[in-house]
Amino acid sequence: LNKKDWTVLEMLNFTTDFFKNKNINEYRFDAEVLLAFVLKLKRLDLYLNFDRLLKEDEISFFKKLIQKRVKGIPVAYILGNKEFMGLKFDVNPNVLIPRPETEILVEEVLSLIEKNMLSMNDLTVVDVFSGSGNIPISIFKFVEKFKKNLKVYGIDISNEAIEVAKKNAIKHNVKDKIEFFLGDVLDPLKFLQVNGSIDIITANPPYIKTKDLESLDKEVRSEPLISLDGGNDGLFYYRKLILQSLDYLKKDGYIFMEISPELKEDLVKLLNENGFSDIKVKEDYQCLDRIMIARLGK
Ligand SMILES: C[S@@+](CC[C@H](N)C(=O)[O-])C[C@H]1O[C@@H](n2cnc3c(N)ncnc32)[C@H](O)[C@@H]1O
Repeated sequence: LNKKDWTVLEMLNFTTDFFKNKNINEYRFDAEVLLAFVLKLKRLDLYLNFDRLLKEDEISFFKKLIQKRVKGIPVAYILGNKEFMGLKFDVNPNVLIPRPETEILVEEVLSLIEKNMLSMNDLTVVDVFSGSGNIPISIFKFVEKFKKNLKVYGIDISNEAIEVAKKNAIKHNVKDKIEFFLGDVLDPLKFLQVNGSIDIITANPPYIKTKDLESLDKEVRSEPLISLDGGNDGLFYYRKLILQSLDYLKKDGYIFMEISPELKEDLVKLLNENGFSDIKVKEDYQCLDRIMIARLGK
């Protein structure tokens, strides 16, 4: 990077090769996203600016970002945000970076609401393990135009995560619409007198088995452990969630959970034993079982 005159294209090609040599998976994409950020351009607009010369301060800022990236810091943490359901969410290392497969959970919720619940006057949704607030906020944004009495709650045990979720609620103009609570699984609902009145519970709990944490990608390990560690068998939080949900879900209410494919059989059993039926599983983009949906009642 000691050369003085760099065009956008030269810088992109240089960084792409550099990232590739450092075993960064999405080397070209990451180079583009970071350079676009520095130049305050949309990523694809880089292509219209290939011959533009970079200014000195742009080069030195970009250099800093490249250094962070090769240290294994994910792009979303470097930029401080991540897109989810077409909306931008602030993130920092205290929250999990929202994943594309979690969008499938939200799409399934929206499709159920569209099919079965649009005629209902009220709709109450609880998202537990909320992290950055990506699930409850995007559900609210997509459903608010159809529903007058839409109530959405978010819960997380991490104070820092709740802070990020609240900031995201402000950013998306839903600060007074979504209530976020600090607490363990569904415990905070105790104080709301909502027994038997929740239509939909959504959850993306920590689900990696403790012994598998070590073998995760270095980058995933830069995300908070508290958002990943699902206990010895990966089921720790699901057990508590499913049991507690019996108190709060309406009869015929639905639970939507992101899962690890290897937990599928155990979870089907657990749901059946606890009075759920119509259990459905949706695959993610890699054709792995990822989203589980069930209705309370036989
Ligand atoms: C896998 S992340 C999900 C984040 C976000 N919902 C998403 O889908 O991107 C799990 C979240 O659960 C939270 N968490 C861990 N243990 C919890 C508990 N006992 N009760 C509530 N939340 C918990 C973590 O702080 C983390 O934010």
